[in-house]
Amino acid sequence: MLEFMAETNPFQDPLRFERHVPPCAVVIFGANGDLTKRKLLPALYRLAYERRIPPGFAIIGMSRTAMTDEAFREKMRESVQQFLEDSPFDAALWDDFSRGLFYVAGDVNDDAAYTALAARLKEIEVERHTEGNALFYLSTQPSYYARAAEGLGKVGLAKQVNNAWRRLVVEKPFGHDQDSALVLNNALHEHFEESQIYRIDHYLGKETVQNILAFRFGNGIFEPLWNRRYINHIQITAAESIGVEGRGGYYQEAGALRDMIQNHLLQVMATVAMEPSAVFEANAVRDERAKLLRSIKILKPSEVAANAVAGQYGKASIGGKEVPGFREEAGVDPNSNTDTYAAVTVMIDNWRWAGVPIYIRSGKRMPKRVTDIAIRFNAVPHSLFATETEDTARPNLLILRIQPEEGISLRFSSKQPGGGMKLRPVSMDFNYGSSFGMRTPAAYETLLVDAMIGDPTLYTRQDMVEASWAVVQPIINSWAERKDLPFPNYAAGTWGPKESDDMLAARGHTWRIP
Ligand code: BG6
Repeated sequence: MLEFMAETNPFQDPLRFERHVPPCAVVIFGANGDLTKRKLLPALYRLAYERRIPPGFAIIGMSRTAMTDEAFREKMRESVQQFLEDSPFDAALWDDFSRGLFYVAGDVNDDAAYTALAARLKEIEVERHTEGNALFYLSTQPSYYARAAEGLGKVGLAKQVNNAWRRLVVEKPFGHDQDSALVLNNALHEHFEESQIYRIDHYLGKETVQNILAFRFGNGIFEPLWNRRYINHIQITAAESIGVEGRGGYYQEAGALRDMIQNHLLQVMATVAMEPSAVFEANAVRDERAKLLRSIKILKPSEVAANAVAGQYGKASIGGKEVPGFREEAGVDPNSNTDTYAAVTVMIDNWRWAGVPIYIRSGKRMPKRVTDIAIRFNAVPHSLFATETEDTARPNLLILRIQPEEGISLRFSSKQPGGGMKLRPVSMDFNYGSSFGMRTPAAYETLLVDAMIGDPTLYTRQDMVEASWAVVQPIINSWAERKDLPFPNYAAGTWGPKESDDMLAARGHTWRIP
């Protein structure tokens, strides 16, 4: 299988070491947007800085605003300088890089825009030697995704001819609910094959999320314990201290369940809980992720209240500073019932996980920014030291720290020095920064390279997206029907509503404070 991969795709090293980007053009729809300036251009520039971008390369920005190539280059230079994290800005390199930047003004809803784009791409192909390969990156308003795919299809830009590849990267959110995700999948498939569609979930590109697979399947000692016999429950937390940061309009329509859990956190959960694939190859890995997502127990309407909690932050004073409540944020309806916090109990109906609750929570305006996975093992079956101190009862805890302090910790009990057998929890820690002493690539760098190389391992497939919508849909339906939401139900700067603690307490568990 590995040999087969190497033969068919010379740009993809099956072990993902040598990853050369082939000549290509990257077309960004929504070039005037936030994602382009904060993430995409800084990531592409950083790849150029690392000499991973070939000479035959071009970036074409597209949006409605009229702009010359020069003006676009200038705008992108400012963005890259502003948003380039932990990398130096090299003016000479920028000059060279920016010669490959172009701009086409056009409305996604207008057929003429695609004709203009096709013509410009032809010229650029000759000028920049991009060999007809093109990556179309949809970073517009999600309601335009289907229209953009259609526009590209109609002018022949979705067709792969003469060995030239054409791929479509689709930003999240992929659909607003289960039905619209299905409709969008069908609309994209009218013009692009599934193998050409790269649905991005930037959490899968994070080094620490990829490391979950290395940790589980690259070591012999953890996997035998990774099941219902040894694991009591799992907690997945993605807390953000920020509020909606000027995205009130979008967020009000989305909410925490859709914005974080339906995509990022269910994918992270699938990575933690999936079966090992036989080979590390895109479809083999994605088959396992998809299988896991399909094994999640779908809640009946009557089960939602006990297994899902919605929260919304209210105003508070944090460190002497007044922080507005969600309903007071710009662009938000003062009666909004949108969840800025969501917690869900997930049960997986398979042999490995039956009966092991996986608690997932995510919220804005929490006390700090932290994403981690805490795996709580069973307590010892019979405690010799139980009478000494209650600490002896604290079971082993494995914490996979996704961000910001990236690493892994294992908590275990140790004898406190001195007389008697007094135990105390201590921790064995691995820290990325100090162990490797090198820069961690940003998720968008990894994922852009993957898409250009043609490696979809870290991209979500149609069946995965549909399976994860199926999981959250009953919760969405049930929340939409509730008129009595007691919002706001947590103060900004706290760990969410009391109902969330009650949800765990019903099973004898408590949320860990990360
Ligand atoms: C995005 C969400 O997908 O992920 C944002 O739309 C959220 O609301 C962000 O803030 C979090 O990403 P990260 O990488 O900062 O954890």
